[in-house]
Amino acid sequence: MIRRRQESMYYSDDIVEEVLRSNNIVDVVGTYVHLTKKGANHFGLCPFHSEKTASFSVSERKQIFYCFGCHAGGNAATFLMKYENCSFQEALQRLAERAGMKLPEPSYDEEQKARQDKRSRLYEINKETAVYYYRLLRSPRGRRGLKYLTDRGLTPEIIKEFGLGYADGSSNDLVGHLRDKGFSDEEILEAGVAAHDEKRGLHDKFWNRVMYPIQDVNRKVIGFGGRVMGDGKPKYLNSPETDIFNKRKNLYGLHLARRSRKNRFILCEGYMDVIAMHQAGFSEAVASLGTAFTSEQAVLLRRYASDILLAYDSDGAGTQAALRNIRVLDEAGMKARVIQMQPCKDPDEFIRKFGAEAFEERIREAVNSFFFALDIERQKYDMSDPAAKTAFEQEAARRLTGFGDEIERENYLRATADRYHIPYEALRASVGRYGRVTRPSAAERTGREDSAGWQREGPARVPREGPAPAGSGRGTAASRRSAALLRNEQLLLTALSDNPALLGAAEKYIETDDFSEGIPRTCAQRLWDKLRRGAGEQAAAEVIASFTEESEQEEAAAMFSRHLEGSLEEREREKAMYEIMTAILNASVERNRTALTEGKGSLLALTAQKKRLDELKRQAGNRRNG
Ligand code: UTP
Ligand code: MN
Repeated sequence: MIRRRQESMYYSDDIVEEVLRSNNIVDVVGTYVHLTKKGANHFGLCPFHSEKTASFSVSERKQIFYCFGCHAGGNAATFLMKYENCSFQEALQRLAERAGMKLPEPSYDEEQKARQDKRSRLYEINKETAVYYYRLLRSPRGRRGLKYLTDRGLTPEIIKEFGLGYADGSSNDLVGHLRDKGFSDEEILEAGVAAHDEKRGLHDKFWNRVMYPIQDVNRKVIGFGGRVMGDGKPKYLNSPETDIFNKRKNLYGLHLARRSRKNRFILCEGYMDVIAMHQAGFSEAVASLGTAFTSEQAVLLRRYASDILLAYDSDGAGTQAALRNIRVLDEAGMKARVIQMQPCKDPDEFIRKFGAEAFEERIREAVNSFFFALDIERQKYDMSDPAAKTAFEQEAARRLTGFGDEIERENYLRATADRYHIPYEALRASVGRYGRVTRPSAAERTGREDSAGWQREGPARVPREGPAPAGSGRGTAASRRSAALLRNEQLLLTALSDNPALLGAAEKYIETDDFSEGIPRTCAQRLWDKLRRGAGEQAAAEVIASFTEESEQEEAAAMFSRHLEGSLEEREREKAMYEIMTAILNASVERNRTALTEGKGSLLALTAQKKRLDELKRQAGNRRNG
């Protein structure tokens, strides 16, 4: 992931805090993510990574979010920033707008201004380039390009809607134009619309091509695909990735498709397919950007619709791509159906030959992805041979075990028995047997490693946590200890941010310097400070806002998102708190002892600290026994 600097210095802390206070994060997140209340928190499917069970949590009380799966976290502004792919400043403006507040002019910090400026310059160059190509297509010099597009059946309206353009044969026209507009050679090169070599210097990247501007969801042009008019190679030349053009996180046509209100997407392979589909009225069509479909794109689609139709080429490569994408979509919890394109090569050809109505018919007949994959599997078996037939039916049974939900499994069982003429009872018994022995996990079914693995802490597991025993989990003894320590530090900071009244008891024994160096200590210092100044339950969100890097904000959000079991009795909870504080102080004493042997630190300080520890241990002991 790109680590983007957060331009938090643009507005004073006071303003940031006021904007955060004026919005409820549950409402903000709730407009994008379906949230369900469970205990004190709200849970939903994480919009930032591909998942099927909700590990994304929002705390209304603390006004923060945190994902136990991908560890994305932060406050309402962080959320908007990540979700809308905008700057912190823009996120704040949106929040202010929601709350009916008027923000003063932001003040700039040089370095941040430069970064902000760079991105906006890239947007400007892309926009200027798109306009340039667009005009050229409509000028006498663009006649050949316009003829090419018209010959392919595109109407003037659709050419306009997709902003298609033309790059002609002379090598420096665009570069010259952009220089005239005041862009530096460095900027032009960085935007990817020009290339540089010894002989020619800076020169246009695209020659003799019809140009397809690529727009992000906010309609901003971020790059280009250029197609040769004929059989040259490469068929399509694409802009390279830049600070604003991420091919994994954007989809061709999404800016239009997301507004189609059809509650589904048609995923195609090519730019031309998308355009032909839109022209035929299927404005829900999108395509990836000359690269394989990614889980980021799946998550992006999931924001708007859960029903995905795959309209891939009917050749072997198209089939393989469809199989692969079914897995990617499945991992994001999305159902896919596959549209049969025969006898045509691709949707573009199908639409031209048979028209929109016939395509609508194909959509109705689209094959469920499970059967699409199983149909392909079946072609590998000789069904007249009982051994091969058995092997296929066993494979079908094995795949059926992948449905975790009983009702869903039962429905697929019946449909599979019907479709392949397998006796229902036999198939069912076979599924039962496989299910017991080799029930594949979602990760196995999709052939991917379950990377979240041991660290995944969905809502089901979080509440079961107690104070971390030293030496649990994996890894070396040292890393286990530091993981356990971090967990205790997170538990304590979370408890304090949840319940500011606890600070009085905690600060008798624990000082902020007792926290591990880095994010934990900084969070502790800032939280202490906020709480002492009466920030109350808003403190966590404010502490997060005080970090400038997105990655730091995430680590900070993790510090305020680890809970003890929700249903613990007051007394149990207090006992746990003392155990946690003891563990933290113990570790701190150990660190200082080591420092002393290395000639650093002071014996006096260590002695005082040990006295605190003794007293804390006594208190913890009282609570254990009393
Ligand atoms: P296709 O060849 O199926 O594209 O490649 P298409 O849009 O249907 O092309 P035509 O104009 O009808 O012949 C699918 C996609 O793969 C990427 C492009 O995104 C294309 O739309 N691609 C293909 C490239 O990036 N470079 C290439 O050389 C070819
Ligand atoms: Mn095509």
